[in-house]
Amino acid sequence: MSTITIMILIPFILASLFPYFEAQTLSSTFANQGQWNLVQPSVGISAMHMQLLHNDKIIMFDRTDFGHSYLPLSNGRCRMDPNDIALKVDCSAHSVLYDVPTNTLRPLMIQTDTWCSSGSVLPNGTLIQTGGYNDGERSIRMFTPCFDETCDWVEFPGLLSQRRWYATNQILPDARVIVVGGRRQFNYEFLPKTPSPNSSPSSIPLNFLQQTSDRSENNLYPFVHLLPDGNLFIFANTKSVLFDYKQNSVIKEFPPIPGGDPRNYPSSGSSVLLPLDENLASLEAEVVVCGGAPRGSFESAARGNFVQALGTCGRIKVTDPNPNWVMENMPMPRAMGDMLLLPNGDVVITNGVGAGTAGWEHGHDPVLTPVLFRPSETVNRFSVMAPASRPRLYHSSAVLLRDGRVLVGGSNPHVFYNFTGVEYPTDLSLEAFSPPYLALDFDPVRPTIRYITNNNVLGYRVFCYVTFTVPNFASASEVSVKIVAPSFTTHSFGQNQRMVVLKLSGVTYLAGEAYYATVVGPSTAEIAPPGYYLLFVVHKGVPSSGSWVQVM
Ligand SMILES: *[C@@H]1O[C@H](CO)[C@@H](O)[C@H](O)[C@H]1NC(C)=O
Ligand SMILES: *[C@@H]1O[C@H](CO)[C@@H](O)[C@H](O)[C@H]1NC(C)=O
Repeated sequence: MSTITIMILIPFILASLFPYFEAQTLSSTFANQGQWNLVQPSVGISAMHMQLLHNDKIIMFDRTDFGHSYLPLSNGRCRMDPNDIALKVDCSAHSVLYDVPTNTLRPLMIQTDTWCSSGSVLPNGTLIQTGGYNDGERSIRMFTPCFDETCDWVEFPGLLSQRRWYATNQILPDARVIVVGGRRQFNYEFLPKTPSPNSSPSSIPLNFLQQTSDRSENNLYPFVHLLPDGNLFIFANTKSVLFDYKQNSVIKEFPPIPGGDPRNYPSSGSSVLLPLDENLASLEAEVVVCGGAPRGSFESAARGNFVQALGTCGRIKVTDPNPNWVMENMPMPRAMGDMLLLPNGDVVITNGVGAGTAGWEHGHDPVLTPVLFRPSETVNRFSVMAPASRPRLYHSSAVLLRDGRVLVGGSNPHVFYNFTGVEYPTDLSLEAFSPPYLALDFDPVRPTIRYITNNNVLGYRVFCYVTFTVPNFASASEVSVKIVAPSFTTHSFGQNQRMVVLKLSGVTYLAGEAYYATVVGPSTAEIAPPGYYLLFVVHKGVPSSGSWVQVM
């Protein structure tokens, strides 16, 4: 036996010593509509921004300027901030680190205001987070995950060249981050700042953002997706462009999304880049935009008239020579929905409202039921899931977990934390949605990852062997291996979210219930920028738990 075969077999042998299957009962409601669970009744803050890090901890944060939160800072620390609008001395936390496996949390310290900010995880796993409001509008903050209790935010105030409030970030193939737009900012800039004497930090104009700003803006938190050709897809209001950030030039204007209604903040639809499939002869890239609010809804909501949200999704294959939007109806209208790519390639749309828009007190008729969107189906692409028990309106968020659940948190449509005397109380809880694939019914076909070669490093165009077990193996044609870049989610958009279906060159039987999939690392850094991804084996549409891999 070769060394590699022995290495592959060890985890299987270990696994067979510890049986992990138990007698299961059928739970068909779960298998059809998924299931919700309350995970934490209160984390002390309302999770306006969330990012899963590669140590299975989620960094969450809110604003700093609404007064105290419901979680004290540890070790007697306090924020002393003469610039803060609400509290000059504040001994409560506005950021927490939530550990998924142990369901515990730790307060973190942020000094400057992170309200409506943006972020990206760098290839080395450090979160770089940008902007906010007031004294935080030009701050850069870093958070490097650690496996003990020591790490915290490190802030670099004043380092951005412009105020970034409601901007969108995207990690780039060369490991830089582009920060696009923000309120009254029709420009972009790059991070990290290259320090050079005598050069002031600079930003580069982007007229497209000016052209797409209307009376209530409707182009904030633009939907930015890095495309396989290295250009950016940028969607704002109703328009979208193919943008070459290296040359500062718009290469192509796509047709406006049909219907004429805005999709970005405060109309707040959502968007994903559908999975990029490396098994196709020529790579295709398709963008989906769902929900939002009809033009004028923000002004109407300010007058107490909550207009029904948009019920449509548009999808466009941006790699076609002359692409066009294809529209379809969601099961129900929704603004402020969060769209997340699930490990099996479906898209979940959760949170949000059926009427009104983003903005203080501007949302109404919360939509409790997530819907699943199956992009590859030809008919019945949508299905309605089980309802959550808690409304998630403005300032809520959602992230995918390694185990395939979707964690939701936040919801605070008020200037302060208000729990009584308001229609939609501030929500400090975390809930998890388990999609149908997590039902026990699917355990017979559920793969379990046992081992990934090369210490979980996935090299570009390099072969990688993923050993997994599955009780009832169907066939190699039912197997796919996918990697997902976790999103920085805020305001209904998952920044940096992407999924790549790895090129699969075969599935080989080992022994017992063990197989290994031979896959090839991403072709280019444009397809998958370097960094940490969750790798999933999917068998018969049922995903394994994810394993962290580093693409480099
Ligand atoms: C990652 O890179 C950033 C920027 O260079 C640096 O500040 C940070 O310390 C690095 N993190 C790790 C874990 O090395
Ligand atoms: C919301 O909370 C703030 C601060 O605690 C308070 O001043 C305000 O009256 C509350 N609003 C309502 C509607 O209860």
